Amino acid sequence: MPTKTLFALGLLAGGALALAAPAARIKIDTDRVIGEVHPHLFGNFAEHLGRCIYGGIFEENSPLADASGFRKDVMEAARGLGVTLLRWPGGNFASGYNWKDGIGPRDQRPVRPEHAWGDLESNRFGTDEFLLYCERLGVEPYICINAGLGSIEDARNWVEYCNESRDTAWARLRRRNGRDRPWGVKYWGLGNEIDGPWQLGHKNAEDYSKFALEAAKAMRRADESIKLIASGSSNFGRGADWIGWNRTVLERLRTEIDYISLHTYIGNRENNFERFLAVSRDIDERIEVVEGLIRAARSGLPSARPIHIAFDEWNVWYRARGGSEFDTGRTRLEEIYNFEDALAMGMFLNSFIRHAHIVKMANLAQLVNVIAPIFTNREGLFLQTIYFPLAEYARQRGNLALDALVQSPEYKPDGGRPLGCLDVSVTHNPQARQVFVNVLNKSEKMDIATRLACVEGKLSSAVEVWELNHPDLKATHTFGKDRVVRPRERKINAALSGNGFEYTFPAHSLTILRLTVD
Ligand code: AHR
Repeated sequence: MPTKTLFALGLLAGGALALAAPAARIKIDTDRVIGEVHPHLFGNFAEHLGRCIYGGIFEENSPLADASGFRKDVMEAARGLGVTLLRWPGGNFASGYNWKDGIGPRDQRPVRPEHAWGDLESNRFGTDEFLLYCERLGVEPYICINAGLGSIEDARNWVEYCNESRDTAWARLRRRNGRDRPWGVKYWGLGNEIDGPWQLGHKNAEDYSKFALEAAKAMRRADESIKLIASGSSNFGRGADWIGWNRTVLERLRTEIDYISLHTYIGNRENNFERFLAVSRDIDERIEVVEGLIRAARSGLPSARPIHIAFDEWNVWYRARGGSEFDTGRTRLEEIYNFEDALAMGMFLNSFIRHAHIVKMANLAQLVNVIAPIFTNREGLFLQTIYFPLAEYARQRGNLALDALVQSPEYKPDGGRPLGCLDVSVTHNPQARQVFVNVLNKSEKMDIATRLACVEGKLSSAVEVWELNHPDLKATHTFGKDRVVRPRERKINAALSGNGFEYTFPAHSLTILRLTVD
């Protein structure tokens, strides 16, 4: 049973939780706006990998698919997730992909060996299928070019094929393939994880920057309205110079790009809950370091285009990994998520929201089957534990992120610097007069009594509570049994004192309090 607390907690010592004073406190000021919670923070990602596309999004001749071969049940689940933007075709796959293989009559498309994941690629799902899927789903497409083995000319032609309205050869080909109007693809990634030695066509930062600069120029000549995402660092913690990579890329590409990407996957191999969720500190730090590099690169160029961070791959991923990076044949990255992984969704999203001024895009990797919240077989699907926090946070898209004051008991996850047990983000919807307080209690054992108070506006006592909690951190879902880890929603009448109230956040839980502030 969790320890009940605590308005007199002491300090956390020696890696374990000890008690800290004062009591936890969250002070909300609707004037302290960080930035808009951009709808694209709820982006997602679909790669040609395992059963993400084939058997996930797309299953021709399935009774569950529509006439285009799109799985209707997956589409409905994706809608429920609040997805706003979809990245494609990879991932590592992108660095060996020839987009021209994936257009035209399906039966005439070539089958190719695929060298990122060691599969065969039928090419039956290609550019037009992807863009139609996005249109049906009502999400913004985001295409990642092949900056590994691919050419600048191919990248440029891809933009023309998708976006050209005049009567050019590539536009004519698109029309012949059934699409008259341009698709109008706005977001283009200048390659994937090119800093990683595992990547086909891996380059050093200088060589990548030269390639990306020329690709950007050529692609913008095909459509000057596109937004470009540079391949930032993905290679953390392996002795890689991730700061150096980002610095070089930003300096060389600062006049051309709109975003720099970051990727992070986390895991709990050592089975230490509190350390697992302490990664928030690294995520915050990576964002802040890259923000600093962006500012440095742009200093002295006041009129240069703004550059933001696209956290375009993030998730928990450690069980369904092979012995080496690409030894994934056995698992196809079919990670089965548990309750503590669902809590990690709150950790990531809180960090993105706390940095809403600079993180303007984030893509959960991935949408279905492959490290994903939706899991299918031929007969149907189930929703993984991570689905529910993702769907709930997505309701805050477009809100204003607020810089709240948070004081909470602390712990020392790695015996070093103390870290707050409460991981918090706050957003405000002024039109609806609602404030959302997102609170992850990272303590495994301790309930934390907290005073919440508003500086501005009059707080109503009517509070809506969304809570994700479960006694078993390792609880999972499967087919026919996906109601184990579900949120509990209720309305409470808070006992107001001053312009605030007290609320106890249970141990190892994720809570979203919806307040009304007039
Ligand atoms: O999402 C799975 C893989 O992880 C992606 O293909 C790659 O970009 C990353 O290493």
